Amino acid sequence: MAPVNRTCHARSLVLIHQRINYTNHNKKDSKLIEQGIMNSPLLSPNRRSFLRTLSLGTALFTVPGAFAEELIRTPKQTEGPFYPDHLPLDTDNDLVIVNDSLNPAVGEITHLSGRILDSRGEPIRNALVEIWQVDNNGVYLHSKDTHATRDKNFQGFGRFMTGSSGEYYFRTIKPVLYPGRTRHIHYAIKMKGQEKWTTQCYVKGEPQNEKDGIYKSIKDSKARDSVTIDFAPVSSSRIGELAAKFDIVMGFTPEA
Ligand SMILES: [Fe+2]
Repeated sequence: MAPVNRTCHARSLVLIHQRINYTNHNKKDSKLIEQGIMNSPLLSPNRRSFLRTLSLGTALFTVPGAFAEELIRTPKQTEGPFYPDHLPLDTDNDLVIVNDSLNPAVGEITHLSGRILDSRGEPIRNALVEIWQVDNNGVYLHSKDTHATRDKNFQGFGRFMTGSSGEYYFRTIKPVLYPGRTRHIHYAIKMKGQEKWTTQCYVKGEPQNEKDGIYKSIKDSKARDSVTIDFAPVSSSRIGELAAKFDIVMGFTPEA
């Protein structure tokens, strides 16, 4: 296990990073307080810190470099046709509330976290992690996806820049099925000097996984398992939130 101090230090850095880079959204704070989930003495009035602090409670940390020989490289998968053709007004890491809206998205709230690691298991900092996924009606934030009514309260897309721990965090919803696909969340990782890299993660236990052509195209069972993650209930949540963790192991080590 990682020494406690090292982990705490990494967490502190993340919080500092967050405070520097984001602004207050007091209306959202009010909403979250109303929902009764902003109850930690560690929380500052800054909602971005709130979001990141939640991630600290749900994320698991691994020791950089340990068990490197056992790391499974995350398989690259297609970007697909629905990367947003117009970005939302809000591109932060909370996909459940758009800007200062008082109405949250419909869906099973999920705290999605993980780390971006290099091929040796070391965290990668300054990696821009982007996710996009359908709303609870199965609709992407894309002008060509018109098969159902889009939930205007779902952001559909979010971004997070990793700090020194390589960790990322999003608040989103558990993905739903839509015609032709099993439940999945798209990821794009962007780093200086690297081409955009894309993958998808899946919900463990979803029966449709075995009928999904893109999922099944990952032939190696360990690689497939590495993108199939638990969406587990958060025991302390009174509103049925879920937590999911998806570490991404890139196939290279960044230059110093
Ligand atoms: Fe998709």
